[in-house]
Amino acid sequence: MSGVTDLAFRLISRELGAGFCFFEMLDSKATLYGHPKNRRLLKTLKKDSPIAAQLVGDDPSVMLGAAEKLLSLADISFLDINSACPAKKIVKKGAGAALLKDTARLGKIVKKLASNLRIPVTVKLRTGFNKRDAAVCVRTAEICEANGASCVFIHGRTMSQGYSGDIDYESIKAVKKALKIPVFGSGNIFNPFMAKKMLDETECDGITVARGALGNPWIFKNIENYLKNGGTAENPSLSLKKKILERHLGYIESYKDITDTNKIGFMGKIAMWYFKGLHNASRIREQISKARSYGELIYFINRQKPSHFFKHILLF
Ligand SMILES: Cc1cc2nc3c(=O)[nH]c(=O)nc-3n(C[C@H](O)[C@H](O)[C@H](O)COP(=O)(O)O)c2cc1C
Repeated sequence: MSGVTDLAFRLISRELGAGFCFFEMLDSKATLYGHPKNRRLLKTLKKDSPIAAQLVGDDPSVMLGAAEKLLSLADISFLDINSACPAKKIVKKGAGAALLKDTARLGKIVKKLASNLRIPVTVKLRTGFNKRDAAVCVRTAEICEANGASCVFIHGRTMSQGYSGDIDYESIKAVKKALKIPVFGSGNIFNPFMAKKMLDETECDGITVARGALGNPWIFKNIENYLKNGGTAENPSLSLKKKILERHLGYIESYKDITDTNKIGFMGKIAMWYFKGLHNASRIREQISKARSYGELIYFINRQKPSHFFKHILLF
C-alpha cells in the first residue's frame, strides 16, 4: 500500500503474523533514474523478508530497466505490475488501472518483464475499469497468464469504485476457474470472517490484507487462527495495544527518513489508526495533534484510559 507499508509497518505486521509483505509501490521512471525517494522506499532489514516489489508504469522497456535496477538493490521474491491504481495522476499517464483498458499494452509489459527477469512476475488487477463484467475481467487475467504472469492479485472492485462499494466475488471466482496460475483475492478483508468469505465465495488461492491492517496488526494472526481452527478473534487488551503502538512508533522513529516535523505528523496519523472507532476518538486526536515530539506522543498515548478502548476493532 502506497504511503502505508513502510519498513515500520511491515516489521510490526510480520511480528503479528503477516506471512508476506510488499514494499510500497514504486514508480518505474523514478526507480530507473534512481530518484532519492525510491531509496527511502526500499529501506529494509534482514528480518523484513520475504518481500516483493510492485512497479507502476506504462512503458515495457522503462519498466524492465526499472525492474533490473530494483533487482540490484533489493532481494525480492517476485515483481508485481500495478494494473489497479485508480489515482488520477497515474491513470492519466496510461499506467495503473488505465492498463485495464489497454490490455495489449498490459500484455506487452508482462511479456517483457516475465521473459527477461530471473524472478516471477505477477499482476495486480481490478475487476474492471468502469463497469463490472466478469468475462472482460477473465479475458484481462488470461492475457496476463498467456504473457508469462505467475499469479494475479485481484481487487474485487472496478477502477471507478475506488475503495468503496461491494466486492465483486463473482468475477474473482470466474478468473480462478479460468486460470491455471494462482489467483489472490483482495477487498474488504477487515476481519477473519471477511477473509473466509473471500476464500469461500471465490475459491481463490489466497488473500491479501490491506486497510484491515491499519492500526490492527493483530488481523493476520486472527485470520490464521480463525481459518485453522475456527477460533474467534480476541480483542487485544489495552496494555498490549499500547505496547504494540509504541513499538510501531519506535520503528518509525528509528527507520523513517523524513523531517522531524513530518515524522511527528505521520506518527500521529498512525496512532489514530489504533484509536479509530473509539467513542472519544476526536478528543484523542486533538491531544495527539498537540504532540511536538516522539516523547510527548508516547506520553499522550499512555494517558488514554482503559474505558477508551472497549469499543474496538474486530467486531463484525
Ligand atoms: C492507502 C492505500 C494505498 C494503496 N496502495 C496500493 C498500492 O500501492 N498497490 C496496490 O496494488 N494496491 C494498493 N492499494 C489497494 C489495496 O492493496 C487493496 O487492494 C484495496 O485497498 C482493497 O482491499 P481492502 O478493501 O481490504 O482495503 C492501496 C489501498 C489503500 C487504501
